[in-house]
Amino acid sequence: MGIFKKEKSFDKLPTHIAIIMDGNGRWAKKRSLPRTAGHAAGSKTFKDIARYGNKIGLKYMTVYAFSTENWKRPQEEVNNIMNILRDYLRDAKNFKDENIKVKFIGDISVLDEDIKELIADAEKESENATGMHLNIALNYGGRDEIVHAVKKIMKSGVDPDSITEQTISENLYTAEMPDPDFIIRPSGEYRLSNYLIWQSAYAEYWFSDILWPDFKPKHLDMAIEDYQKRNRRYGGV
Ligand code: FPP
Repeated sequence: MGIFKKEKSFDKLPTHIAIIMDGNGRWAKKRSLPRTAGHAAGSKTFKDIARYGNKIGLKYMTVYAFSTENWKRPQEEVNNIMNILRDYLRDAKNFKDENIKVKFIGDISVLDEDIKELIADAEKESENATGMHLNIALNYGGRDEIVHAVKKIMKSGVDPDSITEQTISENLYTAEMPDPDFIIRPSGEYRLSNYLIWQSAYAEYWFSDILWPDFKPKHLDMAIEDYQKRNRRYGGV
């Protein structure tokens, strides 16, 4: 378990941490394993980190599981990630036992019917949970999300002059959630890759060379401690 102790300044925990779970493929390659082994290991890390975030009292965690661009990967790899997701969702009872409230963001309309059903069950199963909100971004792209929001707003017949930033926020998949305060990207890449691009306007970032399957609770602690030292001014002084 991590080094982050309950007595540490919990008042300064970020409310919402978003994570780009990157580096599964490279982790597998380093071990001469197939990429699928990397995703399996990444899935275990995801479960451990979500459980740990809930334990330390995080309110929101949003993970990037599959982007709108990830369909370009070989079919076999796409199938593998979807199967990992199926296994995870079949354990939906776990969210309930752990009091984690799960929600999917992204265009899930194009996914296989059985996955859509499993998603609906998992969301329903955990809807009364009072612990961490765990959002899983699936077939998610930030630009796609904004296009989707604009279409929704236009179709509502709203007066264009009445549109505000809040109107946009309220029509994103993340409506009703606070914006992420803190975005973590392991694996040595320094980019946002179309992740929560509207919502991250004022977020803090934490990058690290650790590959996602090697990411442990102690790394989340390190990131949070770093965050707590930062001075967020939101454009003020
Ligand atoms: C990025 O690593 C990872 C993905 C595109 C898939 C993430 C999926 C999981 C962690 C599986 C578990 C998810 C859930 C919600 C059950 P990469 O393949 O791009 O790694 P690379 O950059 O080293 O090739």
